[in-house]
Amino acid sequence: MLESDGNQSLSVGKNVATIRRRRGLTLDGLSELSSVSRASISALENGADNPRVQTLWNLADALGVNFGTLIGDSQGERVLDDDGASVQLIDRQTSPKIVEAYLLELPAGIVRNARPHVSGVHEHVVVLTGELLTGPSDGPSLLTPGQSISFAADVPHIYSAGRTNTRAIVTVVYPRLDDASWPDQELNWPRSKTDWESVVSLVERASIEVQNGLGINVKAFRHLGQVSSEKAEEELREKIATIPSNPAVRRFIITQNAPGILSLYRTPHMTSLPSADGSVKGDLTSRCLKLAHYATARPGTYDLDLIHRTVSETSSLTESALAAEILTRNGTPTVPLGVGRVEHSWETGDTDAERLFEARIDVDAYEAYELVHPAYARQTLALACYLPVKDGLKILDVGTGPGLPLAMLRELRPDMHALAVDPSQVAVQHLTRRFSEDPAVEIRQASITELERSNNGFEAAVSIGASHHLDTSAFLAAIREQMKHGGRVLIADEMVSGFSSREEREAALIRHHLWYILDTLVEIPKGAHKGDVQLAQRLAQVLPGAIGMAYSDRSKAARRTIRDLFEEVMAIERPMQPSHPLAVFSRFHLLELQALIAGFDYEVEQKTSPLRFKALARMNGFEITNHHRIYATDGDGFNDAGTHLLVMEAV
Ligand SMILES: C[S@@+](CC[C@H](N)C(=O)[O-])C[C@H]1O[C@@H](n2cnc3c(N)ncnc32)[C@H](O)[C@@H]1O
Repeated sequence: MLESDGNQSLSVGKNVATIRRRRGLTLDGLSELSSVSRASISALENGADNPRVQTLWNLADALGVNFGTLIGDSQGERVLDDDGASVQLIDRQTSPKIVEAYLLELPAGIVRNARPHVSGVHEHVVVLTGELLTGPSDGPSLLTPGQSISFAADVPHIYSAGRTNTRAIVTVVYPRLDDASWPDQELNWPRSKTDWESVVSLVERASIEVQNGLGINVKAFRHLGQVSSEKAEEELREKIATIPSNPAVRRFIITQNAPGILSLYRTPHMTSLPSADGSVKGDLTSRCLKLAHYATARPGTYDLDLIHRTVSETSSLTESALAAEILTRNGTPTVPLGVGRVEHSWETGDTDAERLFEARIDVDAYEAYELVHPAYARQTLALACYLPVKDGLKILDVGTGPGLPLAMLRELRPDMHALAVDPSQVAVQHLTRRFSEDPAVEIRQASITELERSNNGFEAAVSIGASHHLDTSAFLAAIREQMKHGGRVLIADEMVSGFSSREEREAALIRHHLWYILDTLVEIPKGAHKGDVQLAQRLAQVLPGAIGMAYSDRSKAARRTIRDLFEEVMAIERPMQPSHPLAVFSRFHLLELQALIAGFDYEVEQKTSPLRFKALARMNGFEITNHHRIYATDGDGFNDAGTHLLVMEAV
């Protein structure tokens, strides 16, 4: 425990709480990662408990920070356990590597078994007095005063005092993140017209390799001389804008370490929507289907002016969102109707008690900005096409959230009734407001897994973006329970490419989420609030590099970059309401980052692949009758990542 007055343990508790929230972790999430009980973390955060050394190490490792950061970086801070063992921070350096030196004191006979630190951490131990058995647990060495040992501490290790009190200096060296030194080619900064021509020709050649299978190429520039890195970035941006575009390759300027050009394969694999089989009728639906068709058609085959007018002239959320998506895809980021103001402020921490939507995602921002998410309206339209045609149809909507897709469904199927089910209190508040004048929508605050079965069972159920918020199999079983035999279930959700290890899952999540962001990056004009300008700039500067890392087997570095960026941009002061219409896109990007980071912990966000989803659906009594990959993010395969629609029958 901390050898201190209550103030010090309070400050360690505050550090833990602050870092945990900045990392976007709930109490449950940190408890799982650290193996420290939820109650202990809660008591520690409230200053009601003095933590033990091992508890603090476990928490530091789980939070991805070093021990010194957790205890407040102040030299001389001493953590003392009940049995007399203590650790005291003596010195700390942060550059070029983080190095921390501690004085470890163990009374005679006391043993400490330490869990592995994060990968790449090394320890050096020098014994001052007494005897210490230390090193990796499966092969420790016995040291006497003046003797030392160095070992990789990313495995279980041990410190065991001999027959007398023991003192030792333990130096912990954290690995340096060489995040950006991964170019395929290093070039000198171009000085002449001919130099630039050769750079352009190299980038064009790289595009063919990227397009035909390599997937990624990075060219970095060195020897900038008098040219500042900002100027270099600007010049590179201008030059690559002049290279003919290739629809299968996206080029970005990267800025970490050295300026460079990143070329990435962008899969064009988007399937067109089902044609309306008579299930949806009406002018609005036909107009929407036409727009949805343009969204996947070749640019230049439709009238952009007309589509531009549609965004503002229509009174339909669905039509406006579909039209805006086409314009955004054609290089003019456009905000549809219904993208609003954030009406409430979201308080992190209040919702730690449960694994709810609002514990990890800002639900108010979600309802205000999610409409600019690529394919958000198209998935709903596709789903409407498959709803059974029947007067007075009543559907079950699972995980309705703040209700934007249900509002779109009501536009497309005004004859339909719905039972909206969602356990989130904030979501239900939005729903109650949105549908206060719509008697066709009944709202129930509940988990689908706890919903009582309706008498006859439903003929149709829908769920948009919700299946990955709970145990996939339990979600499917609970819906099956609510269905009539032969009933139709329509699931639209984001899924990732197949994975079989945590590492692969993280890389898949990064590639999936970041494409939604990279496809909608914006530049905010200088006149807007500087926080909004800076936010958009930082996202555009850092995220291309991060996705590049995820495409080149460097997902750990990518994850770290993303977490750090998230912390950095969340600290940027910006107005509550976006100061420019385009700033809405960056607000949506923050939501996407929140979802991605929640996905790292796999706690509230639990995405799977389409193939696995279909297997689990069959296991739970469904037959898959249709499958559409509505928006492709990562991978060329039909069962790769993106927004998917699955049409299933309860059998
Ligand atoms: C990403 S939101 C999607 C909301 C909405 N359908 C949309 O597309 O905008 C996921 C929703 O699933 C809800 N959810 C999570 N667990 C659930 C459960 N056990 N039963 C029903 N809904 C759940 C969350 O509360 C959240 O509102």
